[in-house]
Amino acid sequence: MTSMLEIFRKELELCKVGSGQTLAVLTEDGHRQDYANAFLAAAQELGASAFQINLTRSGQGGRGDRAVGATSLAGNRPAIEALKSADIVIDLMFLLFSEEQIEITDSGTRMLLVVEPFEVLSELLPNETLRKRVEAGGERLKNARTMRITSPAGTDVTYELGKYPTLTEYGYTDEPGRWDHWPSGFLFTQGNDEGVNGTVVIGTGDIIFPLKRYVVDPITLTIEKSMVTKISGDGLDAAIMRDYMESYKDPRAYAISHIGWGLNELARWSQLATSANIGEEIGMHGRAFYGNVLFSTGPNTELGGTNDTMCHLDIPLKGASLWLDGDHIVDLGKIVPKEMQPA
Ligand SMILES: [Fe+2]
Repeated sequence: MTSMLEIFRKELELCKVGSGQTLAVLTEDGHRQDYANAFLAAAQELGASAFQINLTRSGQGGRGDRAVGATSLAGNRPAIEALKSADIVIDLMFLLFSEEQIEITDSGTRMLLVVEPFEVLSELLPNETLRKRVEAGGERLKNARTMRITSPAGTDVTYELGKYPTLTEYGYTDEPGRWDHWPSGFLFTQGNDEGVNGTVVIGTGDIIFPLKRYVVDPITLTIEKSMVTKISGDGLDAAIMRDYMESYKDPRAYAISHIGWGLNELARWSQLATSANIGEEIGMHGRAFYGNVLFSTGPNTELGGTNDTMCHLDIPLKGASLWLDGDHIVDLGKIVPKEMQPA
């Protein structure tokens, strides 16, 4: 078996960590210290300077990918400044959706989130081909003005596009200020304010994260002016979704968040049902699998919006279809454009 040090070194090589670069590892309560040690050692092997910042979990700390946005780094000015002084921050604690993450990446420091179990990191170690395919999708998406998504289950929703940027995630980062997440393999943007309208049917086999559930009984979302205005469905899945979203007591939880599609042919839709270690996973297999349409609700600060609700659902739709300005991109879960297909 390839060692953690070797795998992490390959990942840092993709991130162009080397001589003259400074790498910072960010941890909380010493969690994932084995990752921190391996990243620090790999960075040193590559000739980079490296240091670690370990924070004590504060009372407002989030719960991994649930209740996102509030982190133990908030208000810790010396730690934020130290992280900004690095060329790359390896985030082992989960800063996503926080103001601190935005401040650090705005300063030109690139950032890589790493929280999946080592087995998942190894299985989904990225490569330059995946990057090219995701970037090819990004080019299409950033130039598009409308997106339409349909599915045999009854989805028919339209996104007006153009106000927000397109983000790519291919699992490594070598550009100043750019954030990525290892592993991944998808791309997304955000519909214009009030520009998302229609119906999304979350059908059998679609997944709701962070609940880590395959839907069995379909849930029908009515979407008006970029808000979910009705959650219909008599089954257990709809009841759980309604109750979970209500628990945040925040009307902004019902906003439509990012939208895009998955391109990672190594990621498996069935992982949630088959992994022996699913409790430790946050579900990047399920978010990145090839041909899924990744629909989501909640915050949009990641794309420059103002909604920082802590209720965020990622919902990979399996077997859906997607068009950009009439160009067919995903056909019933299959990627249509050649340049986004694996060799
Ligand atoms: Fe998301």
